[in-house]
Amino acid sequence: MSSLLTDKRILLGISGGIAAYKTADWTRNLRREGAEVRVMMSRAAERFITPLTMAALSGHKVHSDIFAADDAERIPHISLGRECDLVLLAPATANTIARLAHGLADGLLTAVVLAAKAKVLICPAMNSTMYQHPATRANLERLVQFGYTVIPPECGEMACGDQGPGRLVEWETVRQEIITALTPQDLQGKKVLVTAGPTWEALDPVRLLTSRASGKMGYALATAAKRRGAEVTLVSGPGNIANPTGVEVIPVISAGQMHEAVLSRAERMDVIIKAAAVSDYRPAHYDPHKIKKDASDAALPLAANPDILRELGERKKGARCFPLLVGFAAESYNHLEEGQRKLRAKNLDLIAINDISADDAGFAVDNNRVTLVDRNGAVEELPLLSKEEVAHRILNAILRLN
Ligand code: C5P
Repeated sequence: MSSLLTDKRILLGISGGIAAYKTADWTRNLRREGAEVRVMMSRAAERFITPLTMAALSGHKVHSDIFAADDAERIPHISLGRECDLVLLAPATANTIARLAHGLADGLLTAVVLAAKAKVLICPAMNSTMYQHPATRANLERLVQFGYTVIPPECGEMACGDQGPGRLVEWETVRQEIITALTPQDLQGKKVLVTAGPTWEALDPVRLLTSRASGKMGYALATAAKRRGAEVTLVSGPGNIANPTGVEVIPVISAGQMHEAVLSRAERMDVIIKAAAVSDYRPAHYDPHKIKKDASDAALPLAANPDILRELGERKKGARCFPLLVGFAAESYNHLEEGQRKLRAKNLDLIAINDISADDAGFAVDNNRVTLVDRNGAVEELPLLSKEEVAHRILNAILRLN
């Protein structure tokens, strides 16, 4: 399945720290997602992990010698940094960082970085006293001034037994940084509001009406929009997904609270994406005491919740300037027709239609298969994709409409 890293060309530069062995796994992870990985190693790195291992895992010969005769005609210290989308230095030792900070080009790794035109991500890893030394701090600051991205190490126990900052960052963090670095900032200056998750409609202090929605699609949209430079507000129903970094999260419980949170902010937004599975009904009466087993005749009177998106669509009709409205439609049959009907009925600009009869996509899983229909009638049927990638495709469609 295609991922945001598919066909991306990553040049991995390994310098000589004990954490070098972790980059073997990173190489596998990158390739598993369809990225192409080329590896260059400092002489010291070869003492920690062999070029043979990295060649086997990357599927390409490893570069380490600036004077290598066998591919001298390609001038590797220039070509390597030009034939990639991103340079990833990991682990970056105090020594490599110092040499980069002073523009030294006496080894392949630092020469390639000096000549590279691609973005450079640097993952320092070293003993925490070395990391905190004023020399290393100053060198890292210089690297940031040069425009490189420094991904700080994590705190914890070092190979030498010391505790503190200096452990090589975890893969999931680096993966996110790589994707951010490779993502165009095409939503810069845009304010995007996303709703996510289910709502809870309480019947008594213990019971509630809700849906199986996990919130994953909405959180993926908020993360993707943030990564593309937007200012993002996420109005989220209950769930257990971590807040996306840099996103303003407004937690709500019920449809009534979501209604208030969205409507009070709507006019300030450029785009509103309603990915939440809002409960259409709530119990007509809330009982402040737990309802006894034998207290009712088992019928549950319901009251309709406001349809937030429909209300936004109504407001848009009379407005000179109103945010672009994007809805979701989870349908179990006639999904295209139903989606198109909702797009018109709710006066939307774009709708993402889920066929929920498939069990490999949709609710509470990481993948989704959606069809996008826009206000001009254009239909785009997307294949099964990760929710992360679906989010980016939806944002692409939004940008085409703007
Ligand atoms: O009509 P239906 O509920 O299928 O429409 C789904 C779309 O409408 C979703 O985008 C959902 O977030 C939104 N919706 C809403 N308020 C409701 C019900 C649904 O905003 N009460």
